[in-house]
Amino acid sequence: MLRSSTLFSFAFFAVAYGQQIGTPEVHPPLTWESCSTSGCVAFSSSVVIDANWRDLHIVNGTTSCFERGAWNFDICTTPEVCAANCALDGADYESTGVTTNGDELTMNFVTNSEQPNVGSRLYVMTPGSETEYQLFHPVNREISFTVDVSNLPGGVNGAVYFTQMDADGGIARFPGNKAGAQYGTGYCDSQCPKDVKFIDGVANTIDWSPSGTGSTGSCCTEMDIWEANSISAAFASHACTVTEQTSCTGTNCSTQGVCDQTGCEFDSFRLGNTSFYGPKKTIDTTQPFTVVTQYISSNNDSNGALSTIRRLYVQNGVIIQNSETKFPGITATNQMDATFCTQEAAALRESDTFDTKGGFDAMTSAMNTGMILAFSIWEESITSGVPAATEAELSLAKVVFSEIRVGTIGATFGNITGNGTQPSAPTTTGTATSTVSAPGATQTIFGQCGGIGYTGPTICPLDSTCLESNPDLSQCVPS
Ligand SMILES: *[C@@H]1O[C@H](CO)[C@@H](O)[C@H](O)[C@H]1NC(C)=O
Ligand SMILES: *[C@@H]1O[C@H](CO)[C@@H](O)[C@H](O)[C@H]1NC(C)=O
Ligand SMILES: *[C@@H]1O[C@H](CO)[C@@H](O)[C@H](O)[C@H]1NC(C)=O
Ligand SMILES: *[C@@H]1O[C@H](CO)[C@@H](O)[C@H](O)[C@H]1NC(C)=O
Ligand SMILES: *[C@@H]1O[C@H](CO)[C@@H](O)[C@H](O)[C@H]1NC(C)=O
Ligand SMILES: *[C@@H]1O[C@H](CO)[C@@H](O)[C@H](O)[C@H]1NC(C)=O
Repeated sequence: MLRSSTLFSFAFFAVAYGQQIGTPEVHPPLTWESCSTSGCVAFSSSVVIDANWRDLHIVNGTTSCFERGAWNFDICTTPEVCAANCALDGADYESTGVTTNGDELTMNFVTNSEQPNVGSRLYVMTPGSETEYQLFHPVNREISFTVDVSNLPGGVNGAVYFTQMDADGGIARFPGNKAGAQYGTGYCDSQCPKDVKFIDGVANTIDWSPSGTGSTGSCCTEMDIWEANSISAAFASHACTVTEQTSCTGTNCSTQGVCDQTGCEFDSFRLGNTSFYGPKKTIDTTQPFTVVTQYISSNNDSNGALSTIRRLYVQNGVIIQNSETKFPGITATNQMDATFCTQEAAALRESDTFDTKGGFDAMTSAMNTGMILAFSIWEESITSGVPAATEAELSLAKVVFSEIRVGTIGATFGNITGNGTQPSAPTTTGTATSTVSAPGATQTIFGQCGGIGYTGPTICPLDSTCLESNPDLSQCVPS
């Protein structure tokens, strides 16, 4: 996907951006749950907005380091000097259209004369932490959330995705970065975006163009769980040959470079079922529904390789299986596996870069390292051929995500009542290793170690202690 058009527009009104810490901020609280066969545990977490959406000014002063799409080269004489002299401010979430309420996250696109096409990009924090993104380990697990796309016109996407950013936003690896996850730093994805203002702890000032991009991009493996509006929806896997957030220049940032930018994608409409997803269709986008994505492993255990990505929907208490493909050259299927990806690339794309950049093995390794969870709303690049939304549609565009749950296969969307189909018994052969629900004698860092009703491991690893966040949750926090 191309997410840059939002930032392109944004660059012209934003005051500024940086890498030291400026004014403080309160991360909007957001609850999410971790589920297993024994039930769900709620976590009091929060979200943080990406660093690009922040004002940037000189340390100890008010002069902007970045204004109207351009760096202030009086201050930013070099990428290093710029990072040392400029501070990121706390964000104003309301003005970027972001509000939370309990387990519900609303992202307004926000467009008006003062702030055209703002969009936003948020990352989920570790419960109880202001300085670390939560790392998720999805192999042999699933993620679900309820989404309301009824106010998202074609051309505007609301997305949920895993991306392999550093949990601390890059502070440990890059000394020039003093702001870290607390200020939303360290972004990367499979498009190797060059509009990121600070990469590897230095400013992206070299060859900064009026379109809002520098010479450096920021690459990493990405799993698009959900990229959708009221008209279309897709999920996609994008592999990279690099195994952590890695900067790029030149061809390394391109399709010939380190990441699979096209991806292996499942889009029901494009793959032959035009009546499955949309207003009043099988998945009725005029009403909220729950999206379940399952990461099936080769041996039904978290130590296996990711082999299949499965999609289910739940709407009005009914479980709806993903649509089957009906496309020349693609064996009919409703899930994503290696065969599908190879056939899909041959049928729809110039080359199979998903496989050449590592395919499911690269994704497995990224997931085992841990990926952060991002939410974003943006206007699609005009090159995608989708008709642009009207100004009136844009000004009302918003997406609402709620009931975000991670857990063992089948555990996050059960309890279906009324007319619905009961979910099949959850697959319990595997042992979960999510940072929030790992079994075994010793919990993982940031994993749960206590709380009302909690029966899992209570011993924390060396260098961490079990700290109570609230009566329902104690966690192994690094000491
Ligand atoms: C299902 O119901 C049980 C018992 O009420 C509860 O503990 C669990 O959290 C529920 N799971 C989901 C996914 O709602
Ligand atoms: C900002 O002010 C503090 C306290 O006066 C000083 O220690 C620091 O060096 C200043 N930083 C810069 C970049 O001027
Ligand atoms: C391109 O990426 C590869 C793999 O990370 C790296 O070894 C190489 O040095 C990069 N080339 C340039 C010009 O940065
Ligand atoms: C994994 O579990 C599924 C569903 O229970 C089963 O059909 C499949 O055979 C299992 N695969 C392996 C390798 O055990
Ligand atoms: C589209 O998907 C729905 C639900 O799976 C199915 O009932 C319908 O027959 C499909 N239509 C086509 C044209 O494949
Ligand atoms: C099932 O749903 C239909 C349509 O919403 C409704 O008319 C019917 O009463 C429901 N049946 C049961 C047993 O709940």
